[in-house]
Amino acid sequence: MDLTEEILRLKKERNAVILAHSYQRPEIQDIADFVGDSLALARKAQEATCDVIVFCGVHFMAETACILNPGRTVLLPDLNAACSLEQSCPADELESFLKAHADQNYYVVAYVNCSIGVKALADVIVTSGNAQRIIETAPADRPILFVPDRNLGAWTSLKTGRAMTMWNGACHVHERFSRDKVLEMKAQYPDAEVVCHPECQEPIRLLADHICSTEKMIPYCRESKAARFIIVTETGILHRLRKLVPGKEFIGAGIEQCSCNECEYMKLNTLQKLRDCLQNMAPEVRIEEELRRRAAKPLERMLELSL
Ligand code: 13P
Ligand code: SF4
Repeated sequence: MDLTEEILRLKKERNAVILAHSYQRPEIQDIADFVGDSLALARKAQEATCDVIVFCGVHFMAETACILNPGRTVLLPDLNAACSLEQSCPADELESFLKAHADQNYYVVAYVNCSIGVKALADVIVTSGNAQRIIETAPADRPILFVPDRNLGAWTSLKTGRAMTMWNGACHVHERFSRDKVLEMKAQYPDAEVVCHPECQEPIRLLADHICSTEKMIPYCRESKAARFIIVTETGILHRLRKLVPGKEFIGAGIEQCSCNECEYMKLNTLQKLRDCLQNMAPEVRIEEELRRRAAKPLERMLELSL
């Protein structure tokens, strides 16, 4: 029996659902029951009624599934699938910062790419797909502290006109894009539109025709008059775009020609590890109940506000 057949058989046996982020390897996206961005995956995880959620993404995403749906077993094919953005904001550092600035009474907005400990300290969570909308609902009489992504924070601040104190964190994958490289590609493909993720730095964002979350890139490219796009985010999205928007050309803007930058954490999950985790029912992501309850509040607030 080949790997794909085995995964499908085990999935049925375990009464499992496979959720995958758009940055996963193409073969994982193709076998998943659902592929999406962080927001769509959080919604799917909350709604899941099967016994097991296999989360093909990084650790904070699987943790989010545990927070939102405590009755299920959540498996992550490789427990080492971390996130540099999450690591740039340790919960104890945020806690000390908030204590030291207690007089400010910050309204803490946390990008979903953070640990459960950081979520538990936040007033509301955002994703790249809903940050603008949620910041617009933030109380006008409290200063905003945005954690951990300084790039998404700066972009959202610009879009909403809300001044914010920014945590100095970033995603190493998105910060690796080079402005010179994007300029070179624009010169090479003058008819192409540049579509970039808000986790990119400002000099890159300034070159973009459109800035949005991974999920929103699909309808944008489908509806645009352009036939060719230079995509500035993680490489996994190219597979989705090529599959869902046939007849158009998608070129990655990464260090290597025609390839976006790769997130080595996202790529830790493989078909083999997916099969193994369903077979062994491990590795499982487990969280402490008290922390879960605290982290659930700002996450549920986000889901309510982004209906
Ligand atoms: P979205 O899926 O929300 O676009 O975020 C991208 C990302 O970096 C997830 O790790
Ligand atoms: Fe984290 Fe960046 Fe990888 Fe997304 S692409 S999981 S933000 S390291």
